[in-house]
Amino acid sequence: MSAHSPLPLAISARGPLRGTVVVPGDKSISHRSLMFAGLAVGESRIEGLLEGEDVLATAAAMRAMGAQIERDAAGIWHVAGVGVGGLLQPACALDMGNSGTSTRLLMGLIASHPITATFIGDASLSKRPMGRVIEPLSAMGAEFTASPGDRLPLTMRGLSPAVPIEYTLPVASAQVKSAILLAGLNTPGLTRVLEPVPTRDHSERMLRGFGADLTVEETPQGRMIAIRGEAELKPQQITVPGDPSSAAFWMVAASIVPGSDIVIANVGLNPTRTGIVTALRMMGADITELNPRTVGGEPVADLQVRHAPLSAIEVPPDLAPSMIDEYPVLFVAAAFADGRTVARGAEELRVKESDRIAAMAAALAPNGVRLEEFEDGLAIVGTGGAPIAGGAPIASKLDHRIAMSMAVAGLGARDAVSIDDAGPVATSYPGFFATLDRLTDRQP
Ligand code: S3P
Repeated sequence: MSAHSPLPLAISARGPLRGTVVVPGDKSISHRSLMFAGLAVGESRIEGLLEGEDVLATAAAMRAMGAQIERDAAGIWHVAGVGVGGLLQPACALDMGNSGTSTRLLMGLIASHPITATFIGDASLSKRPMGRVIEPLSAMGAEFTASPGDRLPLTMRGLSPAVPIEYTLPVASAQVKSAILLAGLNTPGLTRVLEPVPTRDHSERMLRGFGADLTVEETPQGRMIAIRGEAELKPQQITVPGDPSSAAFWMVAASIVPGSDIVIANVGLNPTRTGIVTALRMMGADITELNPRTVGGEPVADLQVRHAPLSAIEVPPDLAPSMIDEYPVLFVAAAFADGRTVARGAEELRVKESDRIAAMAAALAPNGVRLEEFEDGLAIVGTGGAPIAGGAPIASKLDHRIAMSMAVAGLGARDAVSIDDAGPVATSYPGFFATLDRLTDRQP
């Protein structure tokens, strides 16, 4: 799955977005559904799973380690787990494709099983730092042989029984937190993670739902999460809510294209994920929550988004963990706002599927957007609603969110924005361009 032939695509200005879009399942929750179900004793059923390449990489890896995973004709996924401690030695290398979440969470799972596994991935994933998980998992007893800079390809050997640790997260990362908690699942005693800055809490919510003995305590130093290992996980019926990170592209598209009025159905609104809604509302976006409800233990609503003039803001840096994947599309919103938007405190963007600060600066500037690059973010001078020039080619850098963000920018460009490779969109949102055509009333 690691190699694509490039899929070039040009997007130019289009009329308003109208209608309803149901966004695909949440990527974070989809990965976790397969992993936790794969460790339960008995059969779980997952509805609404995101069928993107990243999640399919997790499914393939869990199968390679013994879980039985099938998709039925109705699109429901059935997973028969191996039981905590029951993962098997995979017969060949685990191909993680583009997926950092698969890699880091599975490294956690394997760390406390007596198996050896090799992780490989595409050129983007092979540049991403794995030291942040290698360090705590080594303290639990796992051994690693990584490529220079603690990168993939890497081989690890888990230890069983592993050693429980108490670890304070040095970076605000749900992947690191989850890797340690997953290692803790098969570790005797209490494994603790102290999270000074809250990050997405899907692992905590879902592990509790699966019957793990997990507690969360607010302390003056942050959230202390403790998991007692060697517990049995019970199979679950899971409904995966829609991904707010995928919804964000439509929120911005409808906000910047005059005349737009859409409903984005089934959007997960876990408060650890909704920074983009807060930031866009601060800019003046017209977003209304309809039909609030709970799906799979997560708050969900439909969002009506209508075009609205946007104003520049200083994006509060403390929103960063709850909108870390949404900065690329927020930069696009800023390009159409009135005034200079400053978004800083987001240095983690440099180690995502691409260096998203550099990639967005390199994509927006030649398309006529005035900006300034900082180590930890961008300042962007918006047009006040007028079109941007467009007309320049951009490199998606094997990063789905750069491709989708620049497609949204193209909707408000005088001349087409040409994306060198839109293929990476399949990692998280396979139907994105078909949906764009439908919402803008185009035949594909
Ligand atoms: C994710 C956590 C975030 C996010 C990624 C998904 C997760 O990464 O960027 O897309 O599912 O836990 P970090 O933990 O590196 O911030």
